[in-house]
Amino acid sequence: MNRIFSGMQPTRQLHLGNYLGALKNWVRLQDQFEAIFCVVDLHALTIDHDPETLRNNIRAVTAAYVAAGIDPEKNILFNQSAVPGHAELNWIFACHTPLGWLNRMTQFKEKAGKHRENAVLGLYAYPVLMAADILLYKATHVPVGEDQKQHLELARDIGGAFNRYYKRDDFFPLPEPQILGEATRVMSLRDGTKKMSKSDESDYSRINLTDDADTIALKIRKAKTDPEPLPETVEELEKRPEADNLVTIYAALADSSRSAVLAEHAGSQFSGFKSALADLAVAKLGPIAAEMKRLMDERTELDRILQRGAERAGAIAEKTMGEVKDIVGLLRY
Ligand code: TYM
Repeated sequence: MNRIFSGMQPTRQLHLGNYLGALKNWVRLQDQFEAIFCVVDLHALTIDHDPETLRNNIRAVTAAYVAAGIDPEKNILFNQSAVPGHAELNWIFACHTPLGWLNRMTQFKEKAGKHRENAVLGLYAYPVLMAADILLYKATHVPVGEDQKQHLELARDIGGAFNRYYKRDDFFPLPEPQILGEATRVMSLRDGTKKMSKSDESDYSRINLTDDADTIALKIRKAKTDPEPLPETVEELEKRPEADNLVTIYAALADSSRSAVLAEHAGSQFSGFKSALADLAVAKLGPIAAEMKRLMDERTELDRILQRGAERAGAIAEKTMGEVKDIVGLLRY
């Protein structure tokens, strides 16, 4: 049986990278798979946070999932901390993860920066919890943006190590990453060589899912570009990261391809292309922002969705944890 698991951190606002790299694909995949979508609130504790803002962000991410088109009845939608199995399996996996594997994780190196000695254990162990998230549900497929590829390889390694250690060949399936669509790595609007990210200090580097039409248009108008008109071929975009990024965003929003976008816009100046892109972005993202806003005023509806999701996720998780405890040699009563 195929089952999807994926999640987003409720840190700051979701942005266009989260949408095009992950959420938009989830909406399509929910028709083909049994799917579990999680708001990974325990992961959000690995960086500085304010408790009240975190609580609000958990609901905001839930609202974004639903507003983008995730059906909370058909799929399981819940917040990670509501199911204790995540933290439990995390510990068991931590006891099977060599430090050498964690030392290779590039995202830890980037996030810890120069102050590695002061980085917290949770940030270092972050990918182990991520493996637990996925394998607690024996998920077979994980739709994510490209930046999560290394973490997913680690999840496969950890699942494989567990299976081998306890001689239970197929206990955990080794999950397949699904890195799909035209925009698997959306770049900053200010620097085409940097990933669009929640943590960039400039709000002009990203389009937030809650931005209004004027803000979206302004950010696109101010996006960094080069002086050349748009080329005819995708190959010619290679050395033009900002142009490539805007064409990629256009293609992903339009459910098209970069070559089809270039066929239509080759020779255009950026001023004209940016205004077409702004119109497209507002048309696609505007309804999501409006629905998010409506849902954020319906707190009881959001909480009901999360509570129901936690019950359904909890039932699957409890079964796996029972099996895991038996396999590793723990007693349960
Ligand atoms: P997070 O919260 O950083 O990002 C959520 C999703 O958005 C994708 N993404 C992007 N895609 C394209 N371009 C970008 N600029 C961009 N920025 C972010 C991410 O790849 C991700 O799919 N570790 C995960 C959360 C997580 C998880 C999991 C995911 C925890 N447990 C289990 C899958 C399965 C993260 O920090 O995502």
